[in-house]
Amino acid sequence: MRPRVLPRKEVLRMRGDQMPQGRAGKLRLDFNENTVGCSPAVRAALRKLSREQIAVYPEYEATRRRMAQYFGVSPAETILNNGVDDSLKLIFDCFVEPRASVFLVEPTFDMYRLYAALHGARVLTEQLDAQMCFPLDKVVRALRKLKPRIFLLANPNNPTGTLLGRRELRTILDAAPRTLVVVDEAYAEFSGVTVLPWIRRSPNLVVTRTFSKVAGLAGLRFGCLFANRHLIAEMRKAQPPFPVNTPALVAAEAAIRDAAYLRRTVAEVHRGKRVLEAALERLGVRFFPSGGNFLLADFGARAPALLRALAGQGILLRDRTRDFGRAGFIRITIGTRPQMRRLVRALEAQC
Ligand SMILES: Cc1ncc(COP(=O)(O)O)c(C=O)c1O
Repeated sequence: MRPRVLPRKEVLRMRGDQMPQGRAGKLRLDFNENTVGCSPAVRAALRKLSREQIAVYPEYEATRRRMAQYFGVSPAETILNNGVDDSLKLIFDCFVEPRASVFLVEPTFDMYRLYAALHGARVLTEQLDAQMCFPLDKVVRALRKLKPRIFLLANPNNPTGTLLGRRELRTILDAAPRTLVVVDEAYAEFSGVTVLPWIRRSPNLVVTRTFSKVAGLAGLRFGCLFANRHLIAEMRKAQPPFPVNTPALVAAEAAIRDAAYLRRTVAEVHRGKRVLEAALERLGVRFFPSGGNFLLADFGARAPALLRALAGQGILLRDRTRDFGRAGFIRITIGTRPQMRRLVRALEAQC
C-alpha cells in the first residue's frame, strides 16, 4: 500500500545514490580513505573500552579540550561531530533557509549539492577551468555581486585535487564579508595548507576537519568543526545532546596521541603519489596536480573498460563521469608505494 504522507518535495526530488558494497579486502582506491588502516594504538584503545563506558551516554568536554589543543584553537571554538558530512548538516540546519543561496565551484564534493537540495537552497556556481584551476577572479566577482549566504570550498578540492594557497583564500574571505565561508579541510594534512588559525580574525569563517582520511577512522565517523566562538555557541544549540558515540571519541583521542603514525601516513602517501605520477607520465595519461591523497586522471575512451578490468582484479577506482559529463575521468586514491606499484602493473597491462 502506498503511504498517504510523503516526505517534503525536496526529498522526493532527490536521486538517492547507493554506496558500493563489498569493498573490504580489496585494494580500495575509490573513497580516499587510509588504505592501510588506523594506528594500532587506536585498536588498542578501543579494546580497552569497558562495559560501563558503552552503557553510559558519552561526555564530551575532555575530548573537546584535547581536540582543541591538538588543532591549536580553544574548546569554545570547537564542535565535535561525526565528520564533515555531519558538519555540513549542522551548517545547513543553522544557516540555510529555503531559497537562500549556496555558492559552489564545481566539480566539487557531492554532499554540498545534496544538502543544498534538501534545504531548498538556490545553488550558484562557477566552474573550474579545463586544467582544473580555480577561477579566482570570477569567484571574487561573484561573491561581491551575489553575496551568497554560504560559500562551500573544499581545499584541496575533491575530485580534482585543486589546492588554493593562503593568499587566494585571504582574497576570498576579503571579498565575502557577509557570506559564511566554509573551508572543508578534509585533506589538509596532505596539503599542509590550513586556514584554521584565521577563525579568530575572520568571524564568518568555518573550517571542517575529519578523521576519515589520514587518521583512518572513516568507519567510526568522527570530525570537528571550528569557527568563531559566537558562531560555535549558536551552532551547538542545534546539535543533539549526544552527537558522537564513545568509541569514536576514544579512537580519535588515541589517533592524535600517535602523531608519528599520522606523519608517517602523510609521508608515505607523498611517496606513493610520486610512483603513480611517474607511471601515468610514462603511459601518457593526463592527470592533474593534487593537494590530497588522490589524483584525478583522464583515461579518455578506455576508462569504462579499465574500471571493469581493475575491479575484476580487486582494485577499486572511482569513476567521475558524472562530474564532467563524459567518460574518462577517474579518481585514484593514493596508498603506500607497494599498493601503487600493484596498481601501476595493472594499469600497464591495460593501457
Ligand atoms: C572534500 C571532502 N569533504 C568531506 C568528505 C567526507 O568526510 P567525512 O568522512 O568526515 O564525512 C570527503 C570524503 O570523500 C571529501 O572528499
